[in-house]
Amino acid sequence: MSIPVYTYDAVIVGAGLAGSAAARELQKAGKNVAVLTKLHPLRSHSGAAQGGINAALSEEDSVELHEFDTVKGSDYLADQDAVEFMCKNAPETIRWAERMGAAFSRTPEGKIAQRPFGGQSSPRACFAKDRTGLTLLQTMYEQAFREGVKFWDEWYVCDIIYKDDKVSGVVAFNIRDMQPAIFNAKSVMFATGGYARCYKINSNAHANTGDGLSIVARKGIPLEDMEFVQFHPSGLSGNGVLISEAARGEGGRLYNSEGERFMEKYAPNALELASRDVVSRAILNEIREGRGVGPRKDAVYLDLTHLGKEKIMERLPELRDLALTFLGIDMIEAPILISATAHYSMGGIPVDIPGHVRKNNTEFIEGFYAAGECSCVSVHGANRLGANSVLEAMLFGRYVGKTMAEEIDDIPLREATAEDAADALKEIEFVLTNNGTESVTKLRDELQTTMTENAGAFRTGESLEKALEKINELRDRYKNIRIQDKSKIFNTELQEAIEFGHMLDYSKFIVESAIARKESRGAHYREDYQKRDDENFLKHTMAYMDKEGNITLDYMPVTLGKFELKERTY
Ligand code: FUM
Repeated sequence: MSIPVYTYDAVIVGAGLAGSAAARELQKAGKNVAVLTKLHPLRSHSGAAQGGINAALSEEDSVELHEFDTVKGSDYLADQDAVEFMCKNAPETIRWAERMGAAFSRTPEGKIAQRPFGGQSSPRACFAKDRTGLTLLQTMYEQAFREGVKFWDEWYVCDIIYKDDKVSGVVAFNIRDMQPAIFNAKSVMFATGGYARCYKINSNAHANTGDGLSIVARKGIPLEDMEFVQFHPSGLSGNGVLISEAARGEGGRLYNSEGERFMEKYAPNALELASRDVVSRAILNEIREGRGVGPRKDAVYLDLTHLGKEKIMERLPELRDLALTFLGIDMIEAPILISATAHYSMGGIPVDIPGHVRKNNTEFIEGFYAAGECSCVSVHGANRLGANSVLEAMLFGRYVGKTMAEEIDDIPLREATAEDAADALKEIEFVLTNNGTESVTKLRDELQTTMTENAGAFRTGESLEKALEKINELRDRYKNIRIQDKSKIFNTELQEAIEFGHMLDYSKFIVESAIARKESRGAHYREDYQKRDDENFLKHTMAYMDKEGNITLDYMPVTLGKFELKERTY
């Protein structure tokens, strides 16, 4: 079969904040750039970030405090050189975004408004009402488009071309008609986002199926710190849709069925603004000890009524709409029902600060870069602070774009051959023609159930082993799937089946990495090992998958710095 080959200087996969910011830098530097996205760029999940983007702008704040909060929030697993780089460059990044057209909310004096967020010593989250991510995404997309970046919307990337320690393109198909193509390039960047869709209750878009991570892992490239999955404290009860931390930042309070403001027990100083892992576990603990509210008793109250209509309408209009739409509750008049929701992946494709993808602890892959949620640089360590992810995506995306522009002329273009698409075509053929008896929808439901029950905010060795057994069973059953739609026009069933294959692979990384980490740190809470163990586990997990799907674990040292290890209390 002949397959079209499109050639660019650089190919970027993913059009969220990281991908669009990088593309804009590259194109502005005179490089010819293609961005492939399985969505329309403005549907990228960066647009769902509501509450803010951190930068130490005010006189009461400092870059050093931002660094300290981030390292403490990470439970000391973050690499302190990367944290320093991010926090130091945050104020300039905000000004840059503003100059490009991002309209931030303002104080009465005309300064960029900032609100408190969890785990932070100062109001630091710059915001555009509760639509911060969308405002920034629109700005980045507009500016990349204006520079002449070519966006390939609704193209699904299913493989990378990786030979001799070098990545030289991707294989993708057009979702509209399944026409495959090779995108050949001197360098490739992954900005493919997160993967919380493997959990039943999550705040993520349907698209967040971790494709980028599994595509990479299948080539034997490691994934770092996959055991650290963040549960956001406030997802709407029943469906997990995000209710921004901004709600608590603006003064929202949490209550249980006994009317107790229960955060007084768990974080007497920071209360509702302790870091996310602490608040999420507190909520889940109240529920499991029988003090939940709502028809299923699986939620707690988030009360904003004391803020008043004017403030809610000015600062939190999206959140009010979401609660009205999904719960039928007006937060101006009554408390809403929330619980923890799978939200963010701290782990991912290992990279250094300029975004080069690691082949192992010491070597890098030529022509391959990553940034944003799919990557692990690692600025978040074991737990991310709210409003640091939008910052990470835009700041590192932009920086990686600059790095690529500088390095691209030294990277030779390797000609693609039809053989480079063979694995991807085989995978599509399998999904389209396999005539087994298993339904992907059912398998996915079983995966999400086991991940939530056994590899969630609380885990034990025993529960994780159960999850692993289930994943291995599902991997076997996946060989026996059958999709109903055999057509080639907008075959979303086929796409979902491929995505589910990816979910199975990276879920295995989450669980196996978590089994081996016999301690509690940040978002990884082992009820059978409740203490942080710096002597044995102050290290990054580096996990590798072989062709049969077996995982081997290795570890990489954490880059320490000026902040000494301390017990983390709020
Ligand atoms: O709560 C929020 O607005 C989410 C922000 C984030 O995850 O950084």
